Amino acid sequence: MTAGGNLVLIGFMGSGKSSVGALVAERLAAGFVDVDAAIEEMTGLSVPEMFERYGEDGFRSFESAALAQALGGTRQVVAVGGGAPVADPNWKLISEGNVVVRLKASMAETLRRLGEGRGRPLAGGGPAEQVQRLTGLLSKREDRYVQARFQVDTTGRDLESVAEEVADIARRQGFGAGASE
Ligand code: S3P
Repeated sequence: MTAGGNLVLIGFMGSGKSSVGALVAERLAAGFVDVDAAIEEMTGLSVPEMFERYGEDGFRSFESAALAQALGGTRQVVAVGGGAPVADPNWKLISEGNVVVRLKASMAETLRRLGEGRGRPLAGGGPAEQVQRLTGLLSKREDRYVQARFQVDTTGRDLESVAEEVADIARRQGFGAGASE
């Protein structure tokens, strides 16, 4: 990682990016940015409201802008929405000069964590439709997610132990070691 790089958490909905990210930031005494929250702040709208008003394409434009802004900062923990790494320009921003950790979970656990999918426009629908939709979406994204250098499985684990593992990865990559470059 270059000095001043960020620690970026990617992964599917429900993989724990926001919760783990906040804990990792505490452990590393670093700032934390949740890109979905940043988009909401930027627009004054919730994610579902944005999907409703501007469609998914509109949401993705705001997402790219918020991502670029977040990654312009240094030495922060940045949790990005599940769809953000898909677009090539976003992936370039995420992967260059940052430590990228992908959080994953089994589909059964993902479904449990997402419940009815409230607050997540792409995760709703009745139970059968939901499984089908999420499985399809994940398989389309997997090729991208596996490009993250570090893959951490969160299935059956508590947030604290995942946060410790991620913080360790970051420390080993020089995060928090000062501007040593
Ligand atoms: C999305 C994931 C959500 C949010 C939006 C779209 C996706 O973030 O950005 O609902 O396309 O996977 P989380 O991954 O934090 O749930």
